[in-house]
Amino acid sequence: MNILVLGGAGFIGSVVVEQLLVAGHKVVVFDNLSQGHLLAIAENASFVRGEMADGELLCETMQQHAIAAVIHLAGLSLVGESVIRPQKYFATNVGGGIALLDAMLTAGVKKIVFSSTAAVYGAPDSVPIPEDAKLCPLNPYGESKLTFEKMLHWYSQAYGLRYVSLRYFNAAGASEQFGEDHDPETHLIPNVLRVAAGKASHIGIFGDGYPTADGTCVRDYIHVSDLAIAHVLALDLLEQKSDVYNLGVGTGHSVAEVIETAKRVTNRPIPTIVSPRRVGDPPILVASSEKIARELGWKPLCSDLEQLIESAWRWYLSHPNGYDK
Ligand code: UFG
Repeated sequence: MNILVLGGAGFIGSVVVEQLLVAGHKVVVFDNLSQGHLLAIAENASFVRGEMADGELLCETMQQHAIAAVIHLAGLSLVGESVIRPQKYFATNVGGGIALLDAMLTAGVKKIVFSSTAAVYGAPDSVPIPEDAKLCPLNPYGESKLTFEKMLHWYSQAYGLRYVSLRYFNAAGASEQFGEDHDPETHLIPNVLRVAAGKASHIGIFGDGYPTADGTCVRDYIHVSDLAIAHVLALDLLEQKSDVYNLGVGTGHSVAEVIETAKRVTNRPIPTIVSPRRVGDPPILVASSEKIARELGWKPLCSDLEQLIESAWRWYLSHPNGYDK
């Protein structure tokens, strides 16, 4: 199939493109490079630089390349920033999303895989979280993603659009070729590795008084390659129906546990300082991944925490300054 990947030059997008090519699809990456990198675009993919809000260019691109389905990963995704700048999040994640859906309807493209987030659940009553848990985002980021999910539902009813929303938990790790290079970097694992590499003096632990076993927040870390494979499976599902799936491993690890594992993997010291809590952080987010395992036959192959951190460390050592510096 010819697939248009919005955000295909970003961390997750680059690995999704890699897996689509392995599966034999033809890929066109559409990205404004605001967060993505030219060097993160697989050699065998075509590339169009553009804004998601540019519906005309999107429509033209879809028609020119005879696109059969869209994978949309082009949103903004920082919980903390979204609390301070909600306008930016709704403009990009909802406003940009409307332009994308309009372009799809005009071009006659009726299939989309959407990168949603565990942040749509807010602070869940219990874990692991099933897809039918209460949807109650704690921050504008989660709210903007949930709004787009709802739009997909109504567009599917009215216009026959088929969608799969994948609610990502914590994507991390790296493939051999593609890894994580954000500016600024806010995520736990790459920042822990920067400390191990001697590029920062310590890692801040954002709160150690949460209601968890060791007081630090618990997350479900999923290897980016496992996450990417689910997109390939989701494309096949679009032949039959629309649906929503969690994309996590089903196992939680605390911030303290991540740091201890990184010390073992890197064999370097990683000094820590307990810092204030970050606004908008729920204490525990762990997925129930039963539905995606049952219905799509997906299972994690490389998301064991140690293996995942090893892959991120290997990529870090081969790209000490990221992609292009
Ligand atoms: N953390 C620290 N110190 C740091 C960075 C993070 O203690 O320097 C903590 C955070 O407070 C959080 C955990 O490590 O408890 C993980 O934080 P990340 O920033 O790595 O990831 P988030 O859980 O905040 O968010 C990520 C994605 C979101 C997605 C969410 C779903 O960025 O898009 O996972 O679980 F919604």
